[in-house]
Amino acid sequence: MSHKFCIAPMIDVTNRHCRFFFRKFSKHARLYTEMIVADSIIYGDKDFLLGFDEVEHPVALQIAGSDPLTLSKAALIGEQYGYDEINLNIGCPSKRVQAGNFGACLMAHPNLVAECIERIKEKIKIPVTIKCRIGIDDHNPDEMLTEFVETTKNAGVSTYIIHARKAMLDGLDPKQNREIPPLDYDIVRMIKRKWPELNIILNGGILSPYEGKKEISKSKGIELDGVMLGRAVQENPYSIVDVDKIFFNDDKKIPSRIEIVEEMISYLEICVKNNVPINIVTQNMFGLFHGCRGAKLWRSYLSHEAPRRRDDPKVLKEALNHIISFQNQAA
Ligand SMILES: Cc1cc2nc3c(=O)[nH]c(=O)nc-3n(C[C@H](O)[C@H](O)[C@H](O)COP(=O)(O)O)c2cc1C
Repeated sequence: MSHKFCIAPMIDVTNRHCRFFFRKFSKHARLYTEMIVADSIIYGDKDFLLGFDEVEHPVALQIAGSDPLTLSKAALIGEQYGYDEINLNIGCPSKRVQAGNFGACLMAHPNLVAECIERIKEKIKIPVTIKCRIGIDDHNPDEMLTEFVETTKNAGVSTYIIHARKAMLDGLDPKQNREIPPLDYDIVRMIKRKWPELNIILNGGILSPYEGKKEISKSKGIELDGVMLGRAVQENPYSIVDVDKIFFNDDKKIPSRIEIVEEMISYLEICVKNNVPINIVTQNMFGLFHGCRGAKLWRSYLSHEAPRRRDDPKVLKEALNHIISFQNQAA
């Protein structure tokens, strides 16, 4: 199970279509679903929430909750759907999540999290991992993170993805909680130094695979086990096109943006046959030409046309033709 390069779980972003698109850039990156509440998995439309394409492997299901039995049932359903990993969300700071007593507020309840992990592990064979923060509110992160990891690792967790900033549960909304509390990568390194046998994955504020590789490489005598990127991939997905080379020594041919669009046109045709509106897919592709001439034209064509012509896969080809002719004129 390699976590060398992971793409972060992002609500309203990393649905199955987005993950299918991200897979075009890397065969090996580990993908994560959006956070799904355990009760929704048990009582909701399972195929809609959990269905995915085989090409998405390795892919992890991120679940949220705080009731050990409910979480273990949801995890079992995830395993039966074929996910490679169950990841428990201990990082979400939203008010709605706090009201349900899950997400980041559980950092203050490591014994309960340990019980959840034990119950989940009794039910499933695939790995169970945790994504957490370095702490919450005015707690000292050194102490809080150390106690949290110490307690939960004894319940059988060996992989932690650590978003290297605190969550401020009162006063900051989720977006601010991804920007305002300062990043502290050294606390993450401290955990690895203390427990070298654990897989420690660094997350938060990393702008490119190269930067990620640098951050996890030996620094202050500590090498981390992997890196997770979220917003940078969403904003500029092509920036991860050489991840397989940088992180996995895989020298495969790197696809061009145009080749990727052409493959996505075939995917859109399948989506339309399955009654999936094309804009659900194309909204993940806005950033494909980030930094290129005509990027704005590409984005605005897709954002205007796809919602109007939701069952017409030709929109993507037209957007491509527009940007190609714009680039040719400008050349
Ligand atoms: C739109 C959006 C939705 C997110 N949804 C989730 C989520 O469902 N589960 C989760 O653990 N983190 C979620 N996050 C946090 C990211 O996984 C990640 O920890 C955070 O963005 C920091 O990484 P980055 O600086 O590389 O983006 C979300 C972030 C964004 C931007």
